[in-house]
Amino acid sequence: MENIYKMKKLDFNIGDVIEIYSGPVGILWEMLMGEQIHVGGEKETTILANKANITKEKTILDVCSALGGPVRHLAKDYGCKIVGLDATQKMIDEAIKRTKNEPNSNLITYKLGNALDIPYKAETFDVVWGQDAWCYITDKNKFISEACRVLKPNGIIAFTDWLQVGNMSEKEWIDLNSFMAFPYMETLEGYEEILKNTGFRIIESEDLSQDFAMHCHKYQTILRNNLKNDVIKNYGPEMFDAADNGLNLWVQAADSGKVGRGRIIAKRI
Ligand SMILES: C[S@@+](CC[C@H](N)C(=O)[O-])C[C@H]1O[C@@H](n2cnc3c(N)ncnc32)[C@H](O)[C@@H]1O
Repeated sequence: MENIYKMKKLDFNIGDVIEIYSGPVGILWEMLMGEQIHVGGEKETTILANKANITKEKTILDVCSALGGPVRHLAKDYGCKIVGLDATQKMIDEAIKRTKNEPNSNLITYKLGNALDIPYKAETFDVVWGQDAWCYITDKNKFISEACRVLKPNGIIAFTDWLQVGNMSEKEWIDLNSFMAFPYMETLEGYEEILKNTGFRIIESEDLSQDFAMHCHKYQTILRNNLKNDVIKNYGPEMFDAADNGLNLWVQAADSGKVGRGRIIAKRI
């Protein structure tokens, strides 16, 4: 495998994330990907849940829970207790609204907070869960330490994330991350190293980059063929052009093996 050169962090922080997800971006992502705002939707949540061995006895923390799609899915299908943690009040409010009258809603809590300072006591959760969102977190080392702290001994961390999987120019790195407001993307090996150094044993680590590239094409087709008129009508032509240009950068970078996605399951030892 090619030796991946780690690029410098960009100056995006939690304030940028909150500003972005308080505006139309969360809704635009929902239009593209569905209420579960991650690649693969419900199917991917079921895969991750089975790998993480979610059962009704477990207590889960979904870090960066957004609209709460996966939270409701897990409570409904597995009967587990689950907390959705998110830094954006608008996402928390929308998640609460959508959870009323849903199956097993009594098992669900939403909490406003930052992944870098998780507002729970040590050893509270059996599983720390995340889907396609930790790329927004400004310090993955600190966050994984926080995840470890709130996990019970032998607890599981189970997540997917968007990754740097190949080398690229500084301009490509800046353009790709800036479009998404990511401070930086980890590599799969980078996550494995952080987890091992923090006291986790890797159970499974998968590179899903081919599937990621396929999905980037799918989202581009949906944006251009199905959503263009609605986006222009609701948010103006500049918003459509910005979305289309940004997504196109991601399609090209995914096709050329520079960005991708991975899934990791690890156990706190
Ligand atoms: C792509 S969405 C997450 C999608 C969600 N995991 C799902 O599968 O439906 C990103 C979310 O991460 C939240 N977020 C980003 N950085 C965060 C942080 N440091 N702490 C808490 N939430 C954060 C944002 O507010 C946003 O709602």
